Amino acid sequence: MAERQLWSGRFAEGPSEMTLSFTSSLAVDARLAWYDVAGSLAHARMLAATGIVPKEAAEALIDGLKQLLDDLEAGKIELSDELEDVHTNIEHLLTERVGEAGKRVHTARSRNDQVATDLRMFVRDAVLEIITLLIDVQEVLIERAEEELGTIMPGFTHMQHAQPVSLGFHLMAHVFRLQRDAERFLDAYKRLNQCPLGAGALAGTGHPVDRALTAALLGFDRPTDNAMDTVSDRDFALEFVYACAQTMVHLSSMGEELVLWTSPEFRFAEMPDAFATGSSIMPQKKNPDVAELVRGRSSIAIGNLVQMLTMMKGLPLSYNRDMQEDKPGVFSSYETLTSCLYVLAPMYRSLAFDRERMEEACAEGFLNATDLADHLVQKGMPFRQAHEVVGAAVQYCLRTGKRLESLSAEELKGLSDLLDEDSLAHISMEACLNRRTSKGGTAPSAVREQVACARAIIDSHRSVCQGEIGRLESVWKELRK
Ligand code: ARG
Repeated sequence: MAERQLWSGRFAEGPSEMTLSFTSSLAVDARLAWYDVAGSLAHARMLAATGIVPKEAAEALIDGLKQLLDDLEAGKIELSDELEDVHTNIEHLLTERVGEAGKRVHTARSRNDQVATDLRMFVRDAVLEIITLLIDVQEVLIERAEEELGTIMPGFTHMQHAQPVSLGFHLMAHVFRLQRDAERFLDAYKRLNQCPLGAGALAGTGHPVDRALTAALLGFDRPTDNAMDTVSDRDFALEFVYACAQTMVHLSSMGEELVLWTSPEFRFAEMPDAFATGSSIMPQKKNPDVAELVRGRSSIAIGNLVQMLTMMKGLPLSYNRDMQEDKPGVFSSYETLTSCLYVLAPMYRSLAFDRERMEEACAEGFLNATDLADHLVQKGMPFRQAHEVVGAAVQYCLRTGKRLESLSAEELKGLSDLLDEDSLAHISMEACLNRRTSKGGTAPSAVREQVACARAIIDSHRSVCQGEIGRLESVWKELRK
């Protein structure tokens, strides 16, 4: 039987060891200790300000909690698995330190609003860190893109050669994907930055709490609106886990692409040694394991999303213990995503692209077929007919082992009266690339615009993020005064 319980009045005996270990969340939620103490400190300050707790006791609580925060940061706190979660541990430690006053800290509070507050604060920090890391990756991609605005490579659809694009354009596609990911996190942030404390167990409290004060002390925009909703939903955590999963799906495409590009079949890029590993048996091997793991770890983020959605589905109002299983997914998605973002920035920075090889690859697959058809259209032929003519030209080339751009004047004439030698200039890879100046297109001028636009959005994300990080720093300073 467990020895140290905070409450035992209702029971003739304590929970069995088995029940305690089965229900314990400490191994996971110990990670929230700092937030739990900070939340308790804000709560204690509110209890003092409203007179809910007598002045002397409130002061003891505040001092004790401030010391707890210091000791926690100094690594001097040990949590005990005899208590079922981080909240009971912190309350217990506090009471051990400040004596009788400690018994007042849980006035007008429940672990239900407490855990929701702690987790929101964790996710809030996680979002700000993730956006910062996303920006690092985006910046490297943009730098590399700018170097490669004129590097021509095959663009693919269905994994088949489609039309020529620039490597810079291709890299910018990833930048814009990550841009939307950052926006998703920022959007989730707006909704999650509301303070649950004061919701109590489910119905609010009869004590004259000042929820706006608690919210302000913790840097939340405001208190939540409905106590029952507050303790019973985890959609804020789900939005975070979804944003992580979606970002990981994007990163998995990048990982897959690097695996392909560094393969001997592609040779579009050479993986720097620092990001490759060898084989225990095959001496010649250099494997792109980092890229493979980025691809593979997306499965973890997707799994977490499915787990959490499933956990919440059909839960009746309000708090249910099932929801304790929200934390592993949040922490795991956070770790998975940040580990990948950390490694991708330096990896892209040092990746060696093989421009010649990319150009060489453009010789295959009739990347300029659309442009030849467009050329006929310009000369007055309806597009559908031009499509037929060029289709036949491709067939002819396949039969004779030629490329469209190497057809003779005679062969061209044979395909259509509208074609002649001048048509060839029209379908060089450079010409195909440079003509795609439509907004969002692959021509260098269009990609330069994309770079400028991405930079502007990144700057605004960076300033929102840094502003928020700075704001929270002063919130913590103020709270600990
Ligand atoms: N460990 C719990 C969780 O993570 C804390 C809240 C427990 N509340 C309760 N009424 N048992 O959800």
